Amino acid sequence: MGCHSHVNNAHDFDIIMLDAYIDKKDKNTCISCHMPQTMGSKTTLSDSKTHAYHGIAGLHKLSKSLGKYINFHVQKHEKGFQVSIENLANHALFGQAYREGVLNVTIIRGADKIVQEPYIFTRIFGKGNKESMPFEATNILKDTLIYAKKNIVYNTKLQKGDKIVLTLGFRLISKKAAKELKLQHNKELTKIRILKTESFNF
Ligand code: HEC
Repeated sequence: MGCHSHVNNAHDFDIIMLDAYIDKKDKNTCISCHMPQTMGSKTTLSDSKTHAYHGIAGLHKLSKSLGKYINFHVQKHEKGFQVSIENLANHALFGQAYREGVLNVTIIRGADKIVQEPYIFTRIFGKGNKESMPFEATNILKDTLIYAKKNIVYNTKLQKGDKIVLTLGFRLISKKAAKELKLQHNKELTKIRILKTESFNF
């Protein structure tokens, strides 16, 4: 799957983290997730009820339908709670250069909304110790991507009757990258689009 898994920059450094971790027990494949069956025949030469979608479901199209391959779990702790994100895809989520995933968590308590600090899933590139653009990178300074599972701890104590709303979204490119590339005026690139939202009652 070399077409999607890696892109090396001029320093021969791989700037895409979409390596496939294929397991025999996987229920889905690249094709079943990204080319789901849609209505109608694929050509006029054959007659079938459905065909594999060739628009490629991803972050540009059918992104909300990909959310079903991501599971959320929330566990209450004494001092707060933990959100676990389970990734059923056989690659890391948001592994493309410049991209970022964003988890927004809001606790609804009666008429109040307690908004938690958004959690960003991305890889920060560096040239030595200094942060750099992917094309000049020689190493990774920080990696907060979602691999098979990611746990995030919040320190807000939950009360009985609280409702937690989780929204996992993404920006096609981060605001920082947009500025650096002088693309900040194109809001389509940096607006948050939603992959999945779910709420939990306590
Ligand atoms: C269980 C479902 C699932 C499987 C299997 C899966 N993916 Fe994905 N894929 C996703 C989800 C969800 C995203 C959206 C999050 C992201 O961009 O990382 C995604 C995103 C992508 C993207 C970025 C798309 C974009 O629009 O920018 C590429 C490329 C990709 N997958 C390739 C693959 C390849 C190649 C395979 C097989 C090795 C594969 N995927 C297997 C669910 C899956």
